[in-house]
Amino acid sequence: MYKYKVSILGTGFIGLCSAACFAKKDIKVIASTHNKKKADLINSGKAPFYEENLQEFMDDIKQNKPELLTCILDPVQAVIDTDISMITQGTPMREDKSINLGFIESTAREIGEALKKKDGYHLVVVRSTVVPGTTRNLVGKIITEISGKEPGKDFGLCMQPEFLAEGRSIEDTLHPDRIVIGEFDKKSGDMLQEFYEYFYGDHLKNCPILRMNLESAELVKYGNNCLLSTKISFANEFANFAELVPNVDVVQVMKGVGLDYRINPRFLGAGVGFGGSCFHKDVNAIKAWAKSKGYTSRLLEAVLAINDDQAIHIVDIAEELVGKLAGKKVTLLGLSFKPGTDDMREAPSIRVVNELIKRGITDITGYDPKAKETAKEVFGDKIKYADSIEEALKDSECAFLITEWDEFKKLTPDDFKKNMKTPNLIDGRRIYDYDLFNKELNFRAIGRR
Ligand code: UGA
Repeated sequence: MYKYKVSILGTGFIGLCSAACFAKKDIKVIASTHNKKKADLINSGKAPFYEENLQEFMDDIKQNKPELLTCILDPVQAVIDTDISMITQGTPMREDKSINLGFIESTAREIGEALKKKDGYHLVVVRSTVVPGTTRNLVGKIITEISGKEPGKDFGLCMQPEFLAEGRSIEDTLHPDRIVIGEFDKKSGDMLQEFYEYFYGDHLKNCPILRMNLESAELVKYGNNCLLSTKISFANEFANFAELVPNVDVVQVMKGVGLDYRINPRFLGAGVGFGGSCFHKDVNAIKAWAKSKGYTSRLLEAVLAINDDQAIHIVDIAEELVGKLAGKKVTLLGLSFKPGTDDMREAPSIRVVNELIKRGITDITGYDPKAKETAKEVFGDKIKYADSIEEALKDSECAFLITEWDEFKKLTPDDFKKNMKTPNLIDGRRIYDYDLFNKELNFRAIGRR
């Protein structure tokens, strides 16, 4: 009845956004999670987290074809009832910063249990970010041990890295710039390619499909996130160079660099540094993996160190401008790791708050249009939470722009002057017109002196 039946094992950003996009295209999706509350929400057509356009997609599916997307608490059954299973579990960072493959391992066991009971060929696709060797030596081996089935004969095995960014998950899922298929054997890769030919149709005219072995595909994903992180740290290194010379502006410098057709201007934005659930986790994971094989990555060590130093640096800039901040009210505009999300994972605001507290600053107020509740989980009562920009700036003696939400971009020098006790502003994302703000306020910005 359905051309494809797919089980999605893991209902985070990748899992649920793929599930919703597939279901919209008449693919029967059975998602699975061990979290009953999440399953109930999905089955009632509600997105369990905020992601642009996801709720609209889920509304449409619920209204028109609810049977196409269901979520159950039994992953074994989900695999048994489908032909393709995608592992979309998280691979968090351990205490020692290496990768935690615990969720991947338990999902592989569940697939093994299912395949033991299931007849016919089944394709298993790892879409989580995993260090090289995981798909073959962990996932493939566990499934074989438990099910007694052979990869390449009884089941297919692929690794398809995912490149979607939070806030763009649906858009990125629908319009990828390439599809990377790591394959155990040709038959596995052919089956996944046919699935995507069906799902994407005409879009594939502009979207190359790259076929390679499992380990190369696993490494492509790290290549991506490490290069993007490196570009940001490179821009921040040049921001520090720019600050050594009066009136050199890193924004202009990076624009000049980025227009080289071999480079491109994206991810050359200097500022208070990168955050989020992926860059720190993945750069650390591949660095730890290389170390375990006897190779020390000096490049990635520098990328992380430069990034994390930006939070110290922005506080240095503030104290240069204002003098010691202890005893003064300071304001953080933006707390989430980037605009468009309430996600606080590895957010630069956390490093800035830690640095402020280390320097004895206790009167810290944060304002974020979306992340108030998630920030509370991180900071507790270490900071105060304002409900508006005005409240955040009231009586403040120094404001830090940390996340470039649109509502902060609209602020004028007057907004700071009329609300703050003394209008000192540090632009940690380079969103303000330097000359205008510098004329009107006590103003500093990362990457320009
Ligand atoms: C990132 C990648 O962009 C995705 O391709 C990848 O699939 C995803 O990780 C993942 O591995 O799951 P994401 O973490 O959602 O996506 O967010 P980005 O938009 O990449 O931003 C990450 C951080 O870099 C943010 O804190 C942002 O403020 C910072 N950034 C970005 C800069 O500091 N400067 C820039 O020029 C660009």
